[in-house]
Amino acid sequence: MKATAIAPSNIAFIKYWGRKNEVLRLPTNGSISMNLSNLLTTTTVEFDSGRKQDEVFIDGLADKKETDRVINHLNRIRKLAKIKDKARVASKNNFPSSVGLSSSASGFAALTLAGTKAAGLNLAEKQLSILARQGSGSACRSIPSGFVEWLDGNTSGSSYAVSLYPPDYWEIVDIVAIVSKEKKEVSTSEGQKLAKTSFFYKFRQTNMNNKIRLLKKYLKEKKFGDFGELAESEALEMHAIMLTSNPSLIYWTAGSLELMKLVKKWRQEGLAIYFTINTGQDIHLLCQKKDTDKVVQRLKRLPFVKKHIINFPAKGAKISSSHLF
Ligand code: PMV
Repeated sequence: MKATAIAPSNIAFIKYWGRKNEVLRLPTNGSISMNLSNLLTTTTVEFDSGRKQDEVFIDGLADKKETDRVINHLNRIRKLAKIKDKARVASKNNFPSSVGLSSSASGFAALTLAGTKAAGLNLAEKQLSILARQGSGSACRSIPSGFVEWLDGNTSGSSYAVSLYPPDYWEIVDIVAIVSKEKKEVSTSEGQKLAKTSFFYKFRQTNMNNKIRLLKKYLKEKKFGDFGELAESEALEMHAIMLTSNPSLIYWTAGSLELMKLVKKWRQEGLAIYFTINTGQDIHLLCQKKDTDKVVQRLKRLPFVKKHIINFPAKGAKISSSHLF
């Protein structure tokens, strides 16, 4: 059977960095994110009893490391569906992958939904989220819609994401400023394992539940200033852990730093804008919809910003009838 799914990437306001269980991908803390309307992965999966081996194409290519990770995920799906058939998988991102735009989140969410459908399963959202998490942690947050919380569970069955609010709840915008198209030197998956080597990691953990509580409060009250300040300081705190891990992880480039400084300057000038960053050099600018044009005008004046992508809060993973093959 053949099935296709489209899933959004997501941006975390409270981040997932470090795991309490590497095999099951259980994070040391819960996290909160928003799905991104313009960073999308489309994936088609077809299981076929006549096929000799799995075939994986991501943006037309078959990289060995990525292929192995996809096959591991297909094995999880086959085990659940009690089938042995090999599959053909084709996946297409509408944005550059491995540059810190969370292609693994949208990728594994789309693979989970398309793969389970193609295997004849009809999983509920919770089950899909649990399964997506095992492929890539943040992928579990791309299954439910809108503003999402990944619950801090101690078992596989209790570590999944739920929707806090639908996409139309709040008109906030995430503008991704692409400052370089270089690929990451250390993948997010590998970087996650180093978090615990930072001297500051234990201290960070003592405050995570409080941060989650506060962010949910600002979301509920739609307090954009408090929300933005917390999201920005949280991103910097996560990068402080990366900078102080062993070996240290420096994901920023000169352009990332320049833009972070400019955001602070623009804020002093009266524009309500904040930033957050993942494992990469690109900056996610957070603003309210009414300020989008002002932000875009400013970005267009910066020669080191190669491209920008405007994202609104989006729905989670969904089935599509347009197959890639
Ligand atoms: O799911 P992973 O292993 O790609 O990790 C995501 C890590 C961050 O993007 C840096 C933080 C997050 O919560 O999305």
